[in-house]
Amino acid sequence: MMKLYGVIGDPIAHSMSPAMHNDAFSRLGIPAYYHPFHVKPNDLKKAVEGMKAIGVEGFNVTIPHKTAIIPLLDELDPLAEAIGAVNTVVRKNDRWIGYNTDGDGFVRGLKETLGRDLHLDHILIIGAGGAARAIYYTLASEHVRLIDIANRTMEKAARLAEQCPFETKTNVLSISEAEQRMGNYSIVIQTTSIGMSPKTDEMPLSLSLLKKGTFVSDIIYNPLETKFLAEAKKQGAITQNGIKMFVYQGVSAFEKWTGVSPDANRMEKIVLEQLGGYHVNR
Ligand code: ATR
Repeated sequence: MMKLYGVIGDPIAHSMSPAMHNDAFSRLGIPAYYHPFHVKPNDLKKAVEGMKAIGVEGFNVTIPHKTAIIPLLDELDPLAEAIGAVNTVVRKNDRWIGYNTDGDGFVRGLKETLGRDLHLDHILIIGAGGAARAIYYTLASEHVRLIDIANRTMEKAARLAEQCPFETKTNVLSISEAEQRMGNYSIVIQTTSIGMSPKTDEMPLSLSLLKKGTFVSDIIYNPLETKFLAEAKKQGAITQNGIKMFVYQGVSAFEKWTGVSPDANRMEKIVLEQLGGYHVNR
């Protein structure tokens, strides 16, 4: 029988996940279908119960439900618990188990591009919101030793560092301190919404002291190249946009549901087609 998967969110119409997962199911000959479900916050509980009742096998969770869903699940993966957000739910023995594959997706994409592990890197994370939390805790859980955080509101970054359940060394920095220390980092990760369409001429901080050859990543994929990435490239950095994070959070979710690894390159192609962006990014 056809297995049913999906994504719940509000709004959900522009989700790229259905095209990505349905293509992978059909390529791998897995009889399954992935559907976008528009679920309003007030209906979240009913939706989670209803999906169990009708036999949904697993689903993704997106804005605004990633934290609100936690008390509605039967079990929580420890990393998702630390991050405080769930983007992937798996059905196991009729129980809903919540995971967070956002941070894992980012780190997998990063490792794939760099072709090495990250133990010896000195990383700067810009921002201290939900995305920063997922990436920071996942990096720390993988034993990256030096991860600094810079944020407009320093208290938020300090809280993130204090609450990290994994051992790592972190300096909490103001934006101007991070600008001054920019030359110390081998990897810089931009996690704020600054530079996202339509405000594409904004940048979270100056990169004037960036070292040539630094790896600079922006989790934004709309536009495919933010002003921040364009500036980093001008300074001789190796750059990466947010497409790989999106693709690999999907790869990890797919693996958790099916036990099979989908073709990440193919998924990336589907996502770029959805964005209509082949011409923008090389
Ligand atoms: P998400 O869950 O997508 O990460 P979030 O939790 O709202 O979003 O976090 C947004 C991040 O972008 C925060 O680090 C925020 O900085 P503050 O903690 O100081 O609010 C940062 N951010 C958003 N807009 C900003 C702006 N105009 N200037 C500086 N930082 C900004």
